[in-house]
Amino acid sequence: MNSFTPSRFIAALGVTVSLATFATTTIAKDASAAENSSPVMPQMDAERGKTLFAERGCVICHSVNNVGSDVATSLDASNMNIAREPFEFFARMWRGAPQMLALQQADLGYQIDFSGQDIADIFAFVQSREIQEGFTEQDLPDHIKEIIDNGPSAAFE
Ligand code: HEC
Repeated sequence: MNSFTPSRFIAALGVTVSLATFATTTIAKDASAAENSSPVMPQMDAERGKTLFAERGCVICHSVNNVGSDVATSLDASNMNIAREPFEFFARMWRGAPQMLALQQADLGYQIDFSGQDIADIFAFVQSREIQEGFTEQDLPDHIKEIIDNGPSAAFE
């Protein structure tokens, strides 16, 4: 029934050839994409990071310059003991993530969302003693202040 005829052989060969052409084209595309996508470090803006730190609610659990709560480690540049290197910062956030996300859900009712640029700016703020010195209660939006004043999350009780 399933005898191998020359015409089938030619058809099969055709498929093989077009697959091979497809593979070559795809590999060539990948190679040029790789050339154009070398890693880029974003510009970091510590002032913007200061605003995000307050407005996004990091300050609900982490203090800076004695502003904010002490539910979690202080992120003071002076005593943070985190390498001045963004990837280490991110790795530490990742390790703290299960606790952080559970608490954010409890305290804020949602999990904080940010872009890569937001994280870069927050990182710059966390590393900048100078900008941190200018961080005061005045920087806290009312709704964030209220959550801090209401005390630690129910998750801690
Ligand atoms: C609802 C509470 C809460 C919020 C909000 C929160 N965190 Fe955390 N965070 C924690 C907890 C709990 C840990 C893990 C324990 C610890 O390090 O104190 C942690 C850990 C970290 C760590 C690791 C610290 C270390 O020394 O290993 C970093 C960095 C961090 N958070 C940054 C942030 C940033 C930036 C934000 C805002 C975008 C944020 N956190 C928001 C509770 C929170």
